[in-house]
Amino acid sequence: MAELLQRFATHQQLLDASPLLNLFTTEPDRARKFSLYAADLSLDFSKHLCNAETLKLFDELAASTQLRAHIEDLFNGAIVNRTEQRPALHTSLRSDAASAPKHDEVAAAQQQMQTLVNALHAQQLQGFSGLPFTDVVNIGIGGSDLGPRFVTTALRHFWNTSVRVHFVANVDPDELTDTLANLNPATTLIITASKSFNTLETLTNTQAARHWLQTAAGEHNVDAHFIAITSNSAKAVAFGIPQSQVFPMWDWVGGRYSLWSAIGLPIAIAVGWDNFHALLQGAAAMDTHYREASFTENMPALLAALEWWYSNYWHAHSALVLPYSHRLRLFPAFLQQLSMESLGKSVDVNGNSVTTHTGLVVWGEPGTNGQHSFMQLLHQGTRFIPVDFIAVAHGESSGDVRQAHLFANCLSQSRALMTGKSLAQVQLELAAAGVDAAEAQALAPHKVHPGNRPSSTILLESLTPARLGALLALYEHKVHALSVFWNINAFDQWGVELGKQSASVIFNAIKTQPDAELDGSTLQLIGDYKSANQ
Ligand code: F6P
Repeated sequence: MAELLQRFATHQQLLDASPLLNLFTTEPDRARKFSLYAADLSLDFSKHLCNAETLKLFDELAASTQLRAHIEDLFNGAIVNRTEQRPALHTSLRSDAASAPKHDEVAAAQQQMQTLVNALHAQQLQGFSGLPFTDVVNIGIGGSDLGPRFVTTALRHFWNTSVRVHFVANVDPDELTDTLANLNPATTLIITASKSFNTLETLTNTQAARHWLQTAAGEHNVDAHFIAITSNSAKAVAFGIPQSQVFPMWDWVGGRYSLWSAIGLPIAIAVGWDNFHALLQGAAAMDTHYREASFTENMPALLAALEWWYSNYWHAHSALVLPYSHRLRLFPAFLQQLSMESLGKSVDVNGNSVTTHTGLVVWGEPGTNGQHSFMQLLHQGTRFIPVDFIAVAHGESSGDVRQAHLFANCLSQSRALMTGKSLAQVQLELAAAGVDAAEAQALAPHKVHPGNRPSSTILLESLTPARLGALLALYEHKVHALSVFWNINAFDQWGVELGKQSASVIFNAIKTQPDAELDGSTLQLIGDYKSANQ
């Protein structure tokens, strides 16, 4: 491996010495050669700092880290999450194959989901007043919120009209209050989505929702208004949710990989069972691609290798995701958890300190909005930030001229980042515009764009449930391949625990006496909070 890493370093120096645009001159059919098509998605990676030699090195990277064996372990249910002694079988959730691990449990849960979705849509389920449910509020956080919220938002075009779905995550009372303000308790169904059924935000929000419902219902029983999705059914039942209204989750599905399970129930309610199933099938198509394609033609592995390459050799510490689609606006938030909770690790799978950085900071906004805020830093700043542009060719308003503007802006950003503008070009432009020589000399450096900034463009012909499923699975597997290249565990998240423990100590300090063991800054802020709440 050391020898391979040295060859990557030498190769980086060669590529760094010549502009990215030159690669298009030396390889006239580069755009075609550096594009892939899989699971109905297309990826143009020709605007990346890579050539045929880089792809060979990536192939060697995959071989030397045994990516193929790791992929098989993932799909076959090996204990890939060693610190928790669990498999990570989210791929089984979207496989129709009877041979897939856990097939029977998955099929039974899907049947339970389908029955509920169909009954809701047929207005057969009623609340305490005998009226059918018209609104569903999903209370969950992290993986029990971000995936379902993103997919439901993205598939707006497919929404069922008889039931509306809402999402509440934050323990800040304002989110639940604002959501419930427009709803009728008599026709509102609450889903408590929590794998652990132990999450403070979710449980306290559910208690508040129950209080809201019970206040409206008076003497009536409100049990019919509550559903739980959890792997801890005993806790849900103890909490007061009838066993028959508990949907299963399992410890072999990570929270951030769980939208394909019953955690996806709000999606299925919003878009109907057939569309939810199409989402699963799109993801399954990407699963097959990841498992079967050779590495140089393997979309998730290739995106992972590029990110590894930029992190390890080009000093990238963040990755920007720009969906040029209003419907996909929550994708960056979803990817933040998927990527940063999975890859933010300082020790390898054996507990030894890693020797390179891991996990990039993922961020993003929908285009074109980002162009008018942070894109300046991308074009002229000093940071090296690879970008994923995600575009939809045939939008829902495809006849509208704004749709063409949207796509043109997407392409113009990736092109401008690559080509930049040299000092000589700027000087010529200033001269042509008649700017006097002294002023032109002063102004010119400010107008230079270094260029050479790499990006991928992922193109969806249109935004369908299946293509969305494939897009999500693409990123899940990219994260998996990255964890293999960095030799870290993508499926645990011990780092979240410290903050949770600390929050409980501080909550007690706020509610009772400040604990002298706390540091001065924390004690001072507790004092400020208490003064404001006297
Ligand atoms: O706080 C992090 C986390 O553990 C995530 O991994 C998870 O998705 C989220 O909390 C919610 O957990 P749960 O579904 O158990 O409520």
